Amino acid sequence: MRIDILTILPRLLESPFADSIMKRAVDKGLVEIHIHDIRAYSTDKHKKVDDYAFGGSAGMVMAIQPIADCIHALKAERQYDEIIYMTPDGERLNQGICNRISLQKNIIILCGHYKGIDQRLRDTLITREISIGDYVLSGGELAAAVVVDSVVRLLPGVLNDETSALTDSFQDGLLAPPVYTRPAEWNGMRVPDVLMSGNQKAIEDWLMEKAIERTRQRRPDMEKD
Ligand code: 6GU
Repeated sequence: MRIDILTILPRLLESPFADSIMKRAVDKGLVEIHIHDIRAYSTDKHKKVDDYAFGGSAGMVMAIQPIADCIHALKAERQYDEIIYMTPDGERLNQGICNRISLQKNIIILCGHYKGIDQRLRDTLITREISIGDYVLSGGELAAAVVVDSVVRLLPGVLNDETSALTDSFQDGLLAPPVYTRPAEWNGMRVPDVLMSGNQKAIEDWLMEKAIERTRQRRPDMEKD
C-alpha cells in the first residue's frame, strides 16, 4: 500500500511512523508513506497556504492552489483509490472504515487546517471525509496519524500472531476481554482459575462471556441484534 499525506505541518507526521509496528511495516516494504509539504506547492511569492473566506466570516480557509496542484501532481503519477480529507465534520472513523481502507492500493490523505478547505475541492477531488471523534483538534495531522496507524496494522504481514488484529476490540463487534499476567496472585488478588486450568474450551468460553459482558456494560450502543 502507498499512502501520500498532504500537510502544512510535515514535522508533526515524522514520529508516528518512526517506531515500533509502523516503522517495521515501512522497513519491510509493506507500506510506503510519503509526506508532502503543501507549502512547497504554493506559487504565492510568500508561500501562503491560507486565504480569506468569502462571506466575511471569521477565520481563514486553506488556499486552493497548492492543494489542487499537489493532488494533480500525484494523480499524474498513479491512480488513487481514495482521496481522504481529515475534518471534524467528516464521517466518524470506526473499525469497518479502517478495514475497507486497508484493502486499497494508493490513497491520499489531506490534513485540514483553519476553517477547512474550499467546498469545491470537497465536491470534486475528495472521495471520503473522515473525523476521528466528536471533539476538535488543532489540525488534521494527528487524526491522519490515527487513520494510518489503524489501517497499516491491518495489512498482511504487519502484525505477528502475538499481536494479531483478529482478537482486537471492535474487530468482532465486541470489546476485548480482560487480560492477566504474572504473578498469579498480586496484592491479594488472584488470576481467575479458568485461565490457569489449561482447558482451552473453558478459557475461550470465559473470554467470550467477559467480552460480551464488558461490551454490554461499557458500550451498549455496540450491541447487535
Ligand atoms: Cl480529522 N480534524 C480536526 N481538526 N479535528 C478533529 C478531527 C479531524 N477529527 C476529530 N476532531
